[in-house]
Amino acid sequence: MRLVLLGLPGAGKGTQGERLAEKYSIPHISTGSLIRSVVNSGLELGAIVNSYIAKGNLIPDEYMMEILRQRIMEDDCRNGWILDGFPRTVKQAKHLDEMLKRDSQALDRAFDIRISADEAVSRITNRRVCRSCGQIYSIEHSLEKVKGVCDKCGGPLYQRPDDNVEVAKHRIQVYMEQTHPVVHYYAQSGRLTGINGEQDIDGVFADLATAVAALYAQKAGEQG
Ligand code: AP5
Ligand code: MG
Repeated sequence: MRLVLLGLPGAGKGTQGERLAEKYSIPHISTGSLIRSVVNSGLELGAIVNSYIAKGNLIPDEYMMEILRQRIMEDDCRNGWILDGFPRTVKQAKHLDEMLKRDSQALDRAFDIRISADEAVSRITNRRVCRSCGQIYSIEHSLEKVKGVCDKCGGPLYQRPDDNVEVAKHRIQVYMEQTHPVVHYYAQSGRLTGINGEQDIDGVFADLATAVAALYAQKAGEQG
């Protein structure tokens, strides 16, 4: 199953991507997380990409498409993936379609997790993330059991440098200008499902899981 999660910064792409990956045993690939590992790698490329991410701007398409291409060629992606944060421009979306077509594959569905800009800013500024395993927390909705310590791996929690009000507002503006057209791109080709992201985390997951189950059933029908 090949899925794309779209939605404003803070919409819940990471939170839901992790849960879907666990349920369906396919990898959750967050391009934001991939970029943050490049930044922390100490490589020269890290300093280059950090100059974009820190300001809330998009990494140039050429870098991003190569980073994505390398990741989805890995073995664990043979049965599919859940992309979170890619594609973010229509150019990236077209590139993904072409890349899949070359391998006689296709995207199964793009989900647009919808929240308001005010909700996005509030969620972003309340988020904390585990520095070791990337587990996502919220000081408002899903608190860790021991303050500042990840429940899953014991790693330290931190606040992403781009998770302040000023950069968050800029990321939302960048999303509306450059990524929202991707929503239309998938809608026009009949591959988009809208999801109400302003329910609680379980409610959003239930809607996504129902839609994904229907896709699996449809595939099984086509094959059998
Ligand atoms: P990225 O890391 O992808 O950031 P983003 O798109 O801004 O999205 P976020 O990670 O902020 O939000 P999310 O939707 O994952 O929400 P989450 O589940 O954490 O990208 C960062 C940067 O990398 C970009 O700015 C760009 O520079 C670069 N980049 C990445 N991909 C790129 C690409 N393809 N091309 C070019 N550049 C690229 O949830 C947020 C918070 O809300 C959490 O605290 C969570 O607990 C809480 N929460 C989640 N769901 C709910 C709910 N239903 N109710 C209440 N709280 C909730
Ligand atoms: Mg995320």
